This record gives sequence, structure tokens and C-alpha cells, in this order.
Amino acid sequence: MNETIKTLLNHRSIRSFKDKALKREEIDIILGAASLASTSSYLMAYSIIGVTDNDKKAKLASISNQPYIEKNGHFLIFCADFHRHIRQSSNEQYQDMRVNLENTEHFLVATIDATLAAQNAAIAAESMGLGICYIGSIRNDIDKVDTLFNLPEHVVPLFGMAIGYPDAETDQKPRLPKAAYYFENQYISIEDEELHLQKFDEKIADYYQNRTTNQRNERWTDQMKHTLSTPKRARMSSYVREKGFNKH
Ligand SMILES: Cc1cc2nc3c(=O)[nH]c(=O)nc-3n(C[C@H](O)[C@H](O)[C@H](O)COP(=O)(O)O)c2cc1C
Repeated sequence: MNETIKTLLNHRSIRSFKDKALKREEIDIILGAASLASTSSYLMAYSIIGVTDNDKKAKLASISNQPYIEKNGHFLIFCADFHRHIRQSSNEQYQDMRVNLENTEHFLVATIDATLAAQNAAIAAESMGLGICYIGSIRNDIDKVDTLFNLPEHVVPLFGMAIGYPDAETDQKPRLPKAAYYFENQYISIEDEELHLQKFDEKIADYYQNRTTNQRNERWTDQMKHTLSTPKRARMSSYVREKGFNKH
């Protein structure tokens, strides 16, 4: 097995980091790897904001309710971003672009571009022996984040990423079996799906009961029912539209 595959198969989110800043060269390697991700139509429709200001980190930690935003080696925010594309256009072009940019397709494009760059950054960091944790909960108060970083129109912060030197060993979280997420030529039947999910529930119940920290008794399907029936971040729809995305 090659080193890249070993890195990928060893992934787990890290939520406890040593209080040690990443070196500038390490950050540059991670950002370079992010920038070489594939990008739709060569648009590169994203930005990455590094947060080094302790006051801003503290505010983000409070918004997200997660202390590892303050204590890590470096913290990045990945944004969907079409600002630079329209900033450079003449007025006439601007109106056409603006209408196009406001559709769902372009919000998807920018979100996918940012996410691919982020995952390249994550793999680069992990391949260097660092740990990462994505932080979607910066969206708990999207307006505060918007103001904190002075974000212009057509820039939407999607998630953060804490990167750093791992401070503790953590268990690896099991994933769905291949048969539950990979199908050939047609979608899986309801019966097969039921069977695979039942088996996965047994596996995950065992994982939750036996892992080293935060043991509990839970099945994956119950967890999903709870998670997906709980209202979440309702402000995001109007915020995204106000930023000039996903209007039609
Ligand atoms: C977009 C995104 C947002 C996430 N947001 C958070 C977060 O706010 N806080 C957190 O502790 N973990 C967060 N995670 C990490 C997931 O909880 C984690 O990836 C998942 O439970 C699987 O665990 P693993 O990464 O250890 O395999 C996020 C992951 C992704 C992809």
C-alpha cells in the first residue's frame, strides 16, 4: 500500500492539539496543495482565510462553541468566492455575470471548488503527520463571522479547519460498508439498503460502546433521525441569498 493511501485510510478528526504554531513553510505546503485541487471551468471560486489573531480566534471559538479553534497550530476558513471574478468586470459585463452568478449552479460550483481545495489541504496536512478537524459550526452565527472578516458580496464562509500537532490518540470512526454507498448501474433496492444499514447499526453500536472516550449506546440510523429532524441554522438560506447566491 503506498503512502498516500495509508494517509487516506488513517484519517480521523483531531480535536486536541499541542499549543504549537505551524511553521510558515508547513502552511505554505498545505495552501499549495489546496490550490492544485481540480476546479470547475478553471474558476478557482474560493478563498481561504487564515486566522492568527487571538481575539478573532476567541470569537470564533465562542460562535462555534468549540475550544480547539483557539488551541491549534493554524486555523483556516474556506469560503465560496466569486468576488474577484466580478470585481474585475466592466459595468455591462457585470450585469450579465451578476444574473448568472445568482443561480444555484454557481453556488454549487463555488462550494464544490472550496471543498475540494479544503480536502487537498486536509490530506496534505495529514500526510505531514498533522491532524485536522473541519468546523462547520462557524455557521452557528454566520452574520458575526461575516462581520468579523469583513466579507464582501459573493463571498460565503462555508467551514473552518483546525490544523495542528495532535495531542492525543483517537479511535477511527467506522464508515458505511461499501455495499451501502457504491452501486453499479442502478440505485440500491430498499431491501438491500435496509440489510446493510442494520448491519452497520450493529457495528456502530459496538463502536460507541467500546471506544476510548465518550462511550454511549446509539445506532447510526437513530442518530440520523435525530440529527435530521432537528432544525439547524435556518438563517443560512436568507444569508446566502443576501450575499448574491442561490436566488434562482
Ligand atoms: C464540512 C464539515 C464540517 C464539520 N464540522 C465539525 C464541527 O463543527 N465540529 C466538529 O467537532 N467536527 C466537525 N466535523 C467533523 C465530523 O464530525 C467528522 O468528520 C465525522 O464525525 C467523521 O469522523 P472522522 O472525521 O473522525 O472520521 C465536520 C466535518 C465536515 C466534513
